[in-house]
This record gives sequence, structure tokens and C-alpha cells, in this order.
Amino acid sequence: MSTFQSAERRISARQPQQSVYSLEGRLQIEHLINPTEPSDEELHPGSDVIRGLNQQPKTLPPRYFYDDRGSQLFEQICDLPEYYLTRTETEILQSCAPEIAAITGPCELVELGSGSSTKTRLLLDAYQTAGHSLCYCPIDISAGILESSAQSLLLDYPTLQVHGLVGTYELALQRLAPSHLPTRMIGFIGSTLGNLNPQECDRFLEQIKTALQPGEYFLLGIDLQKSKAQLEAAYNDAQGITAAFNLNMLRHLNHRFEGTFDLTQFEHFAFYNESQHQIEMHLRSLQSQTAQLKALGLTIEFAAGESILSEISRKLSLTKIQQDLESKGLKSRQVWTDSKQWFGLILCQLQP
Ligand code: TRP
Repeated sequence: MSTFQSAERRISARQPQQSVYSLEGRLQIEHLINPTEPSDEELHPGSDVIRGLNQQPKTLPPRYFYDDRGSQLFEQICDLPEYYLTRTETEILQSCAPEIAAITGPCELVELGSGSSTKTRLLLDAYQTAGHSLCYCPIDISAGILESSAQSLLLDYPTLQVHGLVGTYELALQRLAPSHLPTRMIGFIGSTLGNLNPQECDRFLEQIKTALQPGEYFLLGIDLQKSKAQLEAAYNDAQGITAAFNLNMLRHLNHRFEGTFDLTQFEHFAFYNESQHQIEMHLRSLQSQTAQLKALGLTIEFAAGESILSEISRKLSLTKIQQDLESKGLKSRQVWTDSKQWFGLILCQLQP
């Protein structure tokens, strides 16, 4: 067994407490908890589920998509022929990564929602080619995927230092250690910003501003507005992987909170709301039914056809988002898009 495999076994056995591991001195993974001000969710696990399911219309917090199976299904979504987002963003990054490295110079890379870190490799390659030191701080809510992708990056980049944080974006942004390199870039790619509603988006950009020092960078990937037909195809793939991903949320809740959701009695339903410029993903009840989450003492009634909103994916305008960024002092240094203008990548810098 290699050192990496045995280290991985040690890591997986650890409990998610505030803890630090080290692998050949190049890997640290910290599990973030908030000891002074535990969140409502930490004090009462599942309180966000109760709140969402008691709302009218019903909603569920998107973070419940990402158990280990959900993270795997999401990786499969990224490879789907209809899901143009990942491919297009990768294509843009492939061509602009050397320019990004040239603009920032030696730079610590922080990534929010790092997942498998596949696209990040394009940035690491560019910084490596430019002869810069490599320092990467992946942040993810799912410990499993963060640990395994950190291990594989360390194998492929022999000089890389990884300092991963397992936790929410909010907590991680508050806990970023000062950069060891001359500057820092926080990356938020994959159009995850589109999964926040306008109020959440505003709060999030405020947190980014607070986490950065003047002169530091923010790299943002966003999906742009396009035809309803193309968008709806991307979120209703022919193989049904997006449907499986959506339904997995109920499976996850069953597992986590002793639930009785019958997955055969719900269907995936996604459409483009043109006036709001957003995809809405729902879990629609096929019949009138009752489900329970026993660990939360919750009983939920569904009418036939009633649905739970599980996710929004907003499609943004480049000019509008640049204005929002600028209102937080984040000035665009460079914008890249693909030849079809499907996806945009913005590199901005916090002004003094
Ligand atoms: N941000 C991506 C998007 O909106 C990823 C994503 C989040 C997603 N939730 C999803 C993709 C649900 C497919 C289905 O597309």
C-alpha cells in the first residue's frame, strides 16, 4: 500500500472536528467548526430542512445535494453532452490561464466549492509553466471529495502545497490565513454564483470583499443568458443524470434524518423562467402523499403535482454582474468569453 493510500485511510477515519492533518508536509486539511458562535444548523441539525419544507411553496437547501453520491453524480453531469457549462468554461480557461498567471504573478489560489479540482489544474499548469510557486487552498463542504482530489493533485504537482478547508464558504472566508505568496486569488468558477438569489449574491460578494486585501484578485465564472431550449436541455439530460442528482437529495435526507420519502413517487422537473432569467429545479410529487423525517419530528403533506424547489440557476448578464462587482470595489481587470458568448470568466481586483 502506498503512503498516500494509508494516509487517506487515516484521514477518513478522523471525526470532523477542528483538526489538522499533514501529509509529507505538503497537505493540511482543516475541518471548520464555529466554537464561539455555532450556527443555528450546528445547534439544531436539520433546522434548515424544517424551515424549507414548512414554507409555501416548499423549498430545500441546495447543500443537501452534496453527499458523496451527490458529488459523484455532479461530476457525471459535468461530462454530459447537453451540459455545455463545464466544457465551455474549461475551453475558456485553457486559453486564458497563462494570461491570468501573467496578470497576477506569484499567487495563492483559493477555490470555493473546489469539488474534483479538475479545472483548477489548468490554472496550476499555467502558474507552474510561469515558474511560480504553487499554493492551493481548496474549500468544499464535502470532506470526501476534497481529500481525494487533494491527494491526486499532490501526486501530479510535486512542489504543490495544499491547505484545504472543509466547511461552508462563509466560515472558510472568515478563516483564510494570510497568503504566503505576494498575492492571492479567490476562484469561484462553475457558475455557482448563479445558484444564489440576488440577496444571497449581494451578501456573498460582500464576504469576498472582506476576505481580500486591496490588490488581491477574484476570478468568477458565470453562465450567460441564452435560449430557453438550450438551457432546458442542459438541465433535463437524456440519460437522466440530472434527475438522479435531484432525487438523490431526498435519498440523502432519508439517510440523514430517518426519512420515508418514496423516491419513485417524485419526479425531477426543471424549466427556464424567462422573466427571472433562471432555471428552476423542482422535485414534483406524483400523487398526494405524506412523508416523514422522523429524526426531525417532521411530517410533510404533498398534494398531487405539488413541488419542492431544490435549486435555482440564474443566467447573468456580463455588464450587470460587472456593475455589482464594482459596487463592492471589485474592478474588472479582464473578461473572457467563448466564441458563442455562452459563458464568461471575469478576473477582478479589489481596489484600495
Ligand atoms: N452552478 C451549476 C449550475 O447551475 C451547477 C449546479 C448546481 C447544477 N446545481 C445543479 C447543475 C443542479 C445541474 C443540476 O448549472
